[in-house]
Amino acid sequence: DDYDLGQYEHFLRKEIGEQPEAVERTLSGRIDERFSTVKLGGLNLEPHDLRAIKRVHILGCGSAYYSGEVGAHLIESLARIPASAEPASEYRYRNPVIDPNGLYIAVSQSGETADTLAAVEELTRKGARVLGVINQVGSAIARANNGGIYIHAGPEVSVASSKSFTSTCVAFAMLAVHLGRIRDLSPADGDRMITALRELPAKIAAVLEQEEAIEEAAKWLAGFDNAMFIGRVRGYPIAREGAQKIKEVAYMHAEAYQAAELKHGPLALICPEMPVVAVVPDDELGEKQRSTLHEIKARGGPILAISHEKLPEELAERTIVVPRTEPELDPILLNIPLQLLAYHAALALDRDIDKPRNLAKSVTVE
Ligand code: G6P
Repeated sequence: DDYDLGQYEHFLRKEIGEQPEAVERTLSGRIDERFSTVKLGGLNLEPHDLRAIKRVHILGCGSAYYSGEVGAHLIESLARIPASAEPASEYRYRNPVIDPNGLYIAVSQSGETADTLAAVEELTRKGARVLGVINQVGSAIARANNGGIYIHAGPEVSVASSKSFTSTCVAFAMLAVHLGRIRDLSPADGDRMITALRELPAKIAAVLEQEEAIEEAAKWLAGFDNAMFIGRVRGYPIAREGAQKIKEVAYMHAEAYQAAELKHGPLALICPEMPVVAVVPDDELGEKQRSTLHEIKARGGPILAISHEKLPEELAERTIVVPRTEPELDPILLNIPLQLLAYHAALALDRDIDKPRNLAKSVTVE
């Protein structure tokens, strides 16, 4: 039962464990092998409308916003449409100029977040086209939109989101493939992506099997007062989400930075008391990642790396290894250890994991 803890102590841990099934549901019935693409029945937009889109603007709050950042990278790289994400809470207050050739996408697990709903209402009042990426079927934001994608992650009880974040990223990957395949993404690249999407549930399960090593790293991290999370390009939203989780459930101060921005300020903070959690996939930026780790090490910063292979001791004292997938989908797998890291840090610090102080699952007031 979705509202029953079963063998678990906390809903957050239970929901982290449910991610393979949640992703299966997000993908279910949507893969179109014949045309090397995905079918998204709820968009309510014809291919010629989708081809006319010149820019994608994504809005959401909290983890929904960070998943929107993952989505923006996916859309840019697979569909080659400029895309960006912004917190809906800021958007609604800045008298936004509506982009006549833009597609707007509102992201929300609950579909009830007041700031996101207000942004959607303002957009639709001004004539913009707004789609949703939403978990809760029939929710206020889903009803206010012109159409969209339900992620079908299942009910999420823990205030800190886990499976809804992952399923939202998967939904964006599907949207990116769909937009790409009616533009210039080749059938071979479409196949490459749908094969990788299909393999995700088993790979998520493989990450979950490393819980013991992640727990050990979390106990170490919980001994510090602060932490720095770093990532580059598609890894940066994951660094942000990882830092957010640590703040939310472990009440630890954590900041996320783009790895290349470290030298423009935060490097001054690096010392043996400032652990760095580095999201460093072995992708086309692998060399650059390694040089950042050298810079941190040279200043005595202890490093926990999330990567595709065990890094040498002189680069990182600890590495959590995640399976490889297609580079575009790396963020989805790299995020899973960060969820378990926050969970186990919170457990070590005896926090109120499912209902963190001062937070609500769904913020329905301004
Ligand atoms: C609250 C929760 C966050 C969540 C955000 C957006 O602030 O504490 O965990 O990410 O709302 O929620 P939504 O339901 O719109 O995704």
